[in-house]
Amino acid sequence: MVKLGVIGCGGIATHQLTSVWDDGLFDLVAGTDIRPEQLELFAEKFGMGKGYADHRDMLAEADLDAVMVCTPTYLHAEHTIAAAEAGKAVFCQKPMAMNTYDCYKVIQTCEACDVKLQLGFVRRYDTDWGTLKRVVESGELGRPLVWRQIAGGPGPKRPFFMNKMEGGGPMIDGMVHNYDFACHCFGAPVEVKSMPVEIHHSTTALDTGTVCVRFEDGDTIMVAWSWGLPEGVRTPGHTDVLGPNGALYFPGSFDASKFQDQYDPKTEGAYLMVLEGGEEKLVTFKRQNMFREELRHFAEWVTEDGAPRVGGDAGLASTRIAELALGGGGLI
Ligand SMILES: NC(=O)c1ccc[n+]([C@@H]2O[C@H](COP(=O)([O-])OP(=O)(O)OC[C@H]3O[C@@H](n4cnc5c(N)ncnc54)[C@H](O)[C@@H]3O)[C@@H](O)[C@H]2O)c1
Repeated sequence: MVKLGVIGCGGIATHQLTSVWDDGLFDLVAGTDIRPEQLELFAEKFGMGKGYADHRDMLAEADLDAVMVCTPTYLHAEHTIAAAEAGKAVFCQKPMAMNTYDCYKVIQTCEACDVKLQLGFVRRYDTDWGTLKRVVESGELGRPLVWRQIAGGPGPKRPFFMNKMEGGGPMIDGMVHNYDFACHCFGAPVEVKSMPVEIHHSTTALDTGTVCVRFEDGDTIMVAWSWGLPEGVRTPGHTDVLGPNGALYFPGSFDASKFQDQYDPKTEGAYLMVLEGGEEKLVTFKRQNMFREELRHFAEWVTEDGAPRVGGDAGLASTRIAELALGGGGLI
């Protein structure tokens, strides 16, 4: 069992640990949170050994192999560096930091302290988005590809998400999953263009924006999101990929009802590929809990040798895209 400490016992920490808890891979030795009620909840739910109000006390006292950093984004760098300096392997939630300067500091500290660092880009463990990568690699759609996603809603409730200095809004916090996964599929990003907009005028972070990223082989992504809609208003969203040979529609972006006899929607998901002449082809995948797979991998990696699937370089690349996107774009 990995002796684990958590910094930030809030929403995502609860979700991650719950998803993997029955596997018995972690002993939750200690946790830190500035809200005592969260420490009580973790003691009850996961049998957490000891709760601390300050992460420095936990790192000085507790016998830990690894630390999970799940605090608001502006604290990720500080908390990851503190854990690394205490010699603990770190699982740090995405985004890695609010800016690339902090990403470099984290990477350098982890290297200097010779500790393992894994970033929480959970989509890397998702069989749904994994299907996109499979299709890209199959070459069926040809190249270059254009991955487009449109989404809109009121955004997350915790105030830090929409604070410019603490969470940065959708163009960093939400879209960073797309930036990372696009790098995973298409290679090195070379240019960012963006059009940030403020539609709600109630937060310090930009609430809406369209971001385009071009990659080394000419593939591009276009992500248009808003977290500026009022409560109760959510757009249906649309995600697809366009290529010279056809188009790929993500689950939820096509009418799946006419394909119900071709897969089991309880355990499987499906993409629709439409090729020249209107030929339709269903691409199915088995659903799995990506949060569980991600922490199973972390537990395995902490106790064994090998390279991380998602290390500091991935955190840096996606934060660089976010930084440029928030500023209107630029060359990488
Ligand atoms: N991988 C994903 O899909 C995913 C999903 C949700 C959130 N996240 C990321 O996880 C991070 C946390 O998000 P959340 O939704 O869990 O937020 P949250 O507010 O629910 O949890 C954060 C916790 O950190 C605590 N905290 C704040 N300051 C602290 C400090 N100085 N020391 C110790 N604890 C402190 C808060 O009290 C809170 O309990 C964000 O960076 C967010 O982007 C990732």
